Formats: sequence, structure tokens, C-alpha cells
Amino acid sequence: MGEENVVMMKDSLEDLEEVQLPEGYKLKTFSPGDEEKWVELMRNIFPESDWTVEKFKEAFASQPQFDPQGLFFIIKGEEYVATALGWFDDVNNKEMGRVHWVGVKEEHRGKGLGKAVVLAVLHYLRSQGSWKVILDTQEYRKPAIRLYETLGFKRA
Ligand SMILES: CC(C)(COP(=O)(O)OP(=O)(O)OC[C@H]1O[C@@H](n2cnc3c(N)ncnc32)[C@H](O)[C@@H]1OP(=O)(O)O)[C@@H](O)C(=O)NCCC(=O)NCCS
Repeated sequence: MGEENVVMMKDSLEDLEEVQLPEGYKLKTFSPGDEEKWVELMRNIFPESDWTVEKFKEAFASQPQFDPQGLFFIIKGEEYVATALGWFDDVNNKEMGRVHWVGVKEEHRGKGLGKAVVLAVLHYLRSQGSWKVILDTQEYRKPAIRLYETLGFKRA
């Protein structure tokens, strides 16, 4: 129970809220060298995952739809604390974007960082021409499902 996949959709990107961050936190996009930071975050937030830099490159960075401007991090000082990726399942069709690999380190949760980093992705997807957005999650990820509902996603 709980492991089952949940698909959620948001069918409009009009009226997106602005991204707001608590004091001390900054939003940035991917720059070379952040591969390791992304993998560290994934291993911290999804301990069951076995991401490596090689796998990151294979799955994302080497793909035609990879755009450094669509991979977001929130940092506090030197520490990378949150991430989310804007993606396209079909590189030739940007009408539908995907919110992918969302996570906030446990010690930094409950401060609005998850909302901020997903909103950053939604603004990015809209800037690329998307008007609807899909994501996959799991039934047991209650905080994530709540977060996505807060942002206007509905179960598909
Ligand atoms: C889901 C996750 C990203 C939320 O990050 P966060 O920074 O704590 O979320 P925020 O503080 O931005 O919360 C925004 C909204 O999400 C909902 N929410 C977040 N955490 C919640 C919780 N524990 N219980 C219920 N609702 C929650 C609330 O609606 C909240 O709005 P509110 O604070 O005004 O009530 C974080 O819990 C996480 O990384 N979880 C593990 C990884 C994961 O499940 N990722 C998603 C994979 S699909």
C-alpha cells in the first residue's frame, strides 16, 4: 500500500505566484560542476536511489531536452538544500512540461522551499511555451501530494 504511482496534472499556467524564498536562501540554476551536488541531494533525499554522476548524465544532461536553465537548486551559503527539474517528455512538443525530481533536505522542510522550487520550475516551463504540466508521485508521499495540490495540480 502506498507505493502506487499517482499522476497529477496542472492544466493552466496562468496566474502563477511569484517565487518567494525565506531569508538566507537563494535560487540558482544548474552550472557545470553541479552534477555532484544534484547526486548528493538525490542520495540524501531519496536514500533508496542509486544516482551517480554517470546516471545523471545518461538520464538528463546528455539528452536533447536538457536545459541548465530548467534545473533549479536552492542553496543556503555553500549548502545545496533543494532541487527540482523542469523537463519535457517529448523534446519536440513543449506544450506539456514535467516537474521532475523534487526534493528538499529534511532539516530545511516546512519553510516554503518545496513550493518555491516547484514554482520556479513552473515559471520556467511557461517561459518555454508549456500550458499544462504533468508529474508522477507515489501515494505515500503525502507532503508532496499536498504541495502539488496547493499549486493547483489535480490527480489525473
Ligand atoms: C515534498 C517536499 C518537497 C515538500 O517540501 P517542503 O519545503 O517541506 O514544502 P513547503 O514548506 O514548501 O510546503 C508547501 C506546502 O506543501 C504542503 N506540505 C508540505 N509538507 C507537508 C506536510 N508534512 N504535511 C502536509 N502538507 C505539507 C502544505 O500544503 C504546504 O503549505 P503550507 O505550509 O502553507 O501548509 C519535501 O517534503 C520532500 O522533499 N519530501 C521527500 C521527497 C519527496 O517526496 N519528493 C517528491 C517526490 S514526487
